[in-house]
Amino acid sequence: MSESLLQQARLAYQPKLPSLLQEFSSLQAIEGEPSSSFGDGVKELFPLTFGQPEVTFSQSEQEREALRVGVVLSGGQAPGGHNVISGLFDALKKNSADSLLIGFLNGPSGITDDQTVEITEEFLAPFRNQGGFDIIGSGRTKIETPKQFEASLATVQRHDLDALVVIGGDDSNTNAALLAEYFKKQGCKTTVIGVPKTIDGDLKSDEIEISFGCDTACKTFSEIIGNILRDCRSAKKYYYFVKLMGRSASHIALECALQTHPNWTFIGEEVAEKGWTLKQLTDQLVDLIVKRSSAGKDFGVVLIPEGIIEFIPEFRKMIDELNSALAENSPEEAVNKLSDPSANCFNGLPELIQKQLLLDRDPHGNVQVSKIETERLFIETVRDELKKRSDYQGKFAAQPHFCGYEGRSCLPSNFDSDYCYALGHVAALLATCRLTGYMSCVGNLTAPVEEWTISGLPITSLMHTEIRHGKPKPVIAKALTELEGRPFEYFKEQRDAWAMDDDYVCPGPIQFFGPAEITDAPLITLSLERQSKTTCSAG
Ligand code: FBP
Repeated sequence: MSESLLQQARLAYQPKLPSLLQEFSSLQAIEGEPSSSFGDGVKELFPLTFGQPEVTFSQSEQEREALRVGVVLSGGQAPGGHNVISGLFDALKKNSADSLLIGFLNGPSGITDDQTVEITEEFLAPFRNQGGFDIIGSGRTKIETPKQFEASLATVQRHDLDALVVIGGDDSNTNAALLAEYFKKQGCKTTVIGVPKTIDGDLKSDEIEISFGCDTACKTFSEIIGNILRDCRSAKKYYYFVKLMGRSASHIALECALQTHPNWTFIGEEVAEKGWTLKQLTDQLVDLIVKRSSAGKDFGVVLIPEGIIEFIPEFRKMIDELNSALAENSPEEAVNKLSDPSANCFNGLPELIQKQLLLDRDPHGNVQVSKIETERLFIETVRDELKKRSDYQGKFAAQPHFCGYEGRSCLPSNFDSDYCYALGHVAALLATCRLTGYMSCVGNLTAPVEEWTISGLPITSLMHTEIRHGKPKPVIAKALTELEGRPFEYFKEQRDAWAMDDDYVCPGPIQFFGPAEITDAPLITLSLERQSKTTCSAG
């Protein structure tokens, strides 16, 4: 594998560890209060693992044994995955040089089909601090049939695993919780531990301040948006419609807006709360474009979260109906089964968007919003509406962009490199303490790394039931952007000025060398959330 000079320099980077983890071999779990769940219906489905206490860790002399651990990468790529594996590997070897780490290949199907590779120092070395998930690959298989559960059990028993570490997002960690319950029920010794991954940032709670990869992805997209803003202000001839990845919640769009100050940013959660229709959203953009044009500005930048489509009320209803109908019908039949309002919504869309809405759901039943070109949809609706406006004499030329896959596998920022390395250590610690159904957690993330805290969170505490493929299923609740939270409030205070004043910020590329306030800066969202928590507790 060829490497650039920067990649080589990153291979040599030694991730920083929280002070507590520097004493890894003498840490012991301390149990807190019993946990509950985010929503109803979970206790009945997890009789053995529901209600477990949150755990923290403290020093105490311990005998450490060699452990046999399996690891799987699950779902979409997120920068830092390789460092979770490095952290896990290094921590297990600190326990005992005889510990063994095996990787399951290409996602959860590697467990059911027993496809593995042994992870050794030599095998791991070229992946340290590098982006991507290519060390063992990833996949989106959902383990849900009795046959898949039996096959998973047979695999972990065949390898005599003490623990299985699932690195994934909300759906993958739901898999982890289900496997933990199932293994326990079968009297199998293998414990299951989750690690919070997803650039989307929607696997989040009081204990999980951010999922890994979100930091790097937001900084990468903000660099691109900053460059586009600069181009926009230089050429003064285009409106750039930039769709940003993030399946459901608008965390990425909000952070990128805070980093770069574009003229307009839709936040899906606000759209849902206000009940804004596609026509109303289009009118908001048209009003802005007309106003800017009368100030002599026929240019600007609009950010669109990819999940917005599911927050627009008439689309939400239409997509729910399509999801249920598609579970049992062909796409053509599913369209024929739509209610009148949903059929009107569907038929009013450009053919391209109609086709994209009918594409296969992912294995977890989600619409593949990354494939729906909302940036083009808005360009079309805005263009049509501008033609009707007698008060508009400007020239509308638009450029669509999608910031997505390029932010998922890039070199992880220092933050994600350190955070992931620590998450891998905590996963190893949970395995050492024989805890099952727990998520690895690292907190206090806006402080210097040495002051980061570590804990284990019962995965069931994040769960509720949702309709998937037309049926109620236990899942981890997605954490949406909080409209009462400080980050959104701050954005609201600024956005009118950004709409007209072109206060564009160009953050530039992620920096790995130089002053810590540049190289190790946490996301603005995280800092604003921390500030408001500190203010609340002080008040
Ligand atoms: P995860 O939730 O698995 O982390 O994936 C997130 C994501 O990157 C979304 O932002 C995006 O909508 C989706 O994956 C794209 O999926 P795919 O890689 O299957 O095209």
